[in-house]
Amino acid sequence: MPDTKITALILAAGKGTRMRSPRAKVLQTLLGEPMLHYVYEALAPVVGGDVLTVVGHDADAVRAAFPDMADRFVVQAEQLGTGHALQVAWDALIKTSATHCLVINGDTPLVTVDALNRLAAAHRSGDLAFMTITPRDAGAFGRVVRDPERRVSAIVEAKDYDLNRHGPVTGEVNAGIYLLKLETMGPLLSRLSNENKSGEYYITDLVSLAVAEGLSVEGVQAGDDLSLMGINSPRELITAENALRRRIVERLIDRGVLIHNPDTVVIGPRADVEPGAEIFGNCEILGASRVAAEAHIGAYNHIVDASFAPGCVVREFNHIEGAVVEEGAQVGPYSRLRPGAVVGKNARVGNFVEMKKARLGEGAKASHLTYLGDAEVGAGANIGAGTITCNYDGKNKFTTTIGEGAFIGSNTALVAPVTVGRDALVGAGSTITKDVPDGQAGIARGKQVNIRRRLKK
Ligand code: UD1
Ligand code: CA
Repeated sequence: MPDTKITALILAAGKGTRMRSPRAKVLQTLLGEPMLHYVYEALAPVVGGDVLTVVGHDADAVRAAFPDMADRFVVQAEQLGTGHALQVAWDALIKTSATHCLVINGDTPLVTVDALNRLAAAHRSGDLAFMTITPRDAGAFGRVVRDPERRVSAIVEAKDYDLNRHGPVTGEVNAGIYLLKLETMGPLLSRLSNENKSGEYYITDLVSLAVAEGLSVEGVQAGDDLSLMGINSPRELITAENALRRRIVERLIDRGVLIHNPDTVVIGPRADVEPGAEIFGNCEILGASRVAAEAHIGAYNHIVDASFAPGCVVREFNHIEGAVVEEGAQVGPYSRLRPGAVVGKNARVGNFVEMKKARLGEGAKASHLTYLGDAEVGAGANIGAGTITCNYDGKNKFTTTIGEGAFIGSNTALVAPVTVGRDALVGAGSTITKDVPDGQAGIARGKQVNIRRRLKK
């Protein structure tokens, strides 16, 4: 067999009308990642970087979501059907010097590397192969028609299916993943027509065209494989998301992550959770989050792009995005950690504390009702209840620096830029606008006066 080279082609130009959303369907998210992310991930081990993507509807947003892939985007300005998408991409395909093209619908996020490998490996010698499934409900999938010898003769879209003409349905349908030999499929492309119920050019018509030419066509059967389902409606998206969720959670449990109440735990595909971590549901851990062994994530936490070191404890009900929680630190309940928040080793953040671009040094504490924005807090410092860093003057942001071992009394406003020195103290209720030097106490509040109280008789 001569050398084969497979380039993948993802069809992702459609609007996804049935989603009833202005957003391109392939940007709809499952577990926090766009649908297209999953297709790229599954293709990578099979074809490496040889992936072209046909985009059209909302192309700029798709480009922005996948900047690394965008130099291999082909624009299908008008979406005239899956066959038209292939026609539009053909020149770009030929330029990749591929011999074969693995075409996949962009709305197939559950697809596994195994399924793609099966198609790619078993059928390189044929002209056209495609994956078929036999789901419990054939829904709107294209019907696979076989002749009496069980050879594939056509794919007929549900809308166009005619019992008299095509015979009784078998339940076998097209999964929307094809392996095409470019040399033999090229000449058939221009023969696709749009004379059907949708008025679209169907890629699936290549099957009957190839059969008529006596080319080798094969339907690779995957049975009732949920992972090959396409997503067209909100209900299908939720079903797929749930299946993915279960896949990830079960894999982690098998690897030794202790997940309590796992039916209510959502962990994204990019999250890295180490064996020995303990997680309680309800919980969402999304994006590029990292949970180390022996980290403890309590119930009702929403976590995105955050990392948790060994031995840290995140109690219940926190909102954590882009933050770092170091070894032995404690967080919550009811805290909000925003991007750039760092809770240092053995430090503590308590209820109703918000941190943004702020670091709490080793063993430092902010236990109640505090805002720390653009702040650096030294080791062992104590931030009293109700402390606010006033970091924004309406135009610019400024930094607050608090030295090691400093003590900030309750209800203090620290007007940045400002520095409270090492082992310095700030009296409760102060509005600090000037630096407090190391070891000194700063108090900035009205003096108390006591006067006689007049009591009514
Ligand atoms: C398609 C198949 C059907 C199969 C099903 C599997 C056709 C005609 N039908 O139907 O046999 O059972 O997938 O899930 O192919 N797209 C473009 N440009 C277009 C039109 C669509 O890029 O002009 C993209 C869409 O973004 C989508 C994919 O192609 O990712 C499939 O299109 P869709 O409209 O969802 O096809 P189905 O009706 O699901
Ligand atoms: Ca579809």
